[in-house]
Amino acid sequence: MTGEPFPPPLRQRLGGRNLHLVGMMGSGKSSTGRPLAKRLGYGFVDADAVIEKLAGRSIPEIFSQDGEDSFRSMESQVLRAIGERHSLVVATGGGVVTIAENWGVLHQGIVIWLNPGRDQLMIRLQADPGDRPLLKTPEPAEALAALLKEREPLYAEADLHIPVGEESPDAVAERILEDLPGVLRSPELQDAPQTTAE
Ligand code: S3P
Repeated sequence: MTGEPFPPPLRQRLGGRNLHLVGMMGSGKSSTGRPLAKRLGYGFVDADAVIEKLAGRSIPEIFSQDGEDSFRSMESQVLRAIGERHSLVVATGGGVVTIAENWGVLHQGIVIWLNPGRDQLMIRLQADPGDRPLLKTPEPAEALAALLKEREPLYAEADLHIPVGEESPDAVAERILEDLPGVLRSPELQDAPQTTAE
């Protein structure tokens, strides 16, 4: 990775469409999203961080005080607000794909699934357990497996699938940049671009 902005044609062809990174907790959406945004000259937004800022509370606090349903409605609201903007790389929360209405916003942009696979995810989440309410159970591996079973078919609806191994976030971002032109050739993404204005 040279750190130089990616050649303009790709950015032009994106036409301001947001890039939505989806995938399980621990799949590297935020760490990959930052270098990806930088390379494209895009802004970067971490949807979980926006929710925490708006709520004035951490995500574990929202889950424990208000419950998951309430968190999901805040998440949908924040996603809609982000969808009003353009030229963003958006790191979404791992459960965003489970709410049907969110797909309306996700598909306004390009949806990119970061998929480390179950074993790699477990290694990552053990190394960095974070404060993840849905994995705070006596059997986090089983909780992860159950979530994956439910969500994999949903993540698979993404426009671009990126298998993730042990490579750095920079390398994953580079891989996305290499694969995006192929996605832009697909018929579903041939609509007029949203905007190219800053
Ligand atoms: C969640 C993932 C978290 C956060 C919340 C719920 C999920 O985000 O939104 O704890 O349902 O998978 P990350 O995927 O960024 O960890």
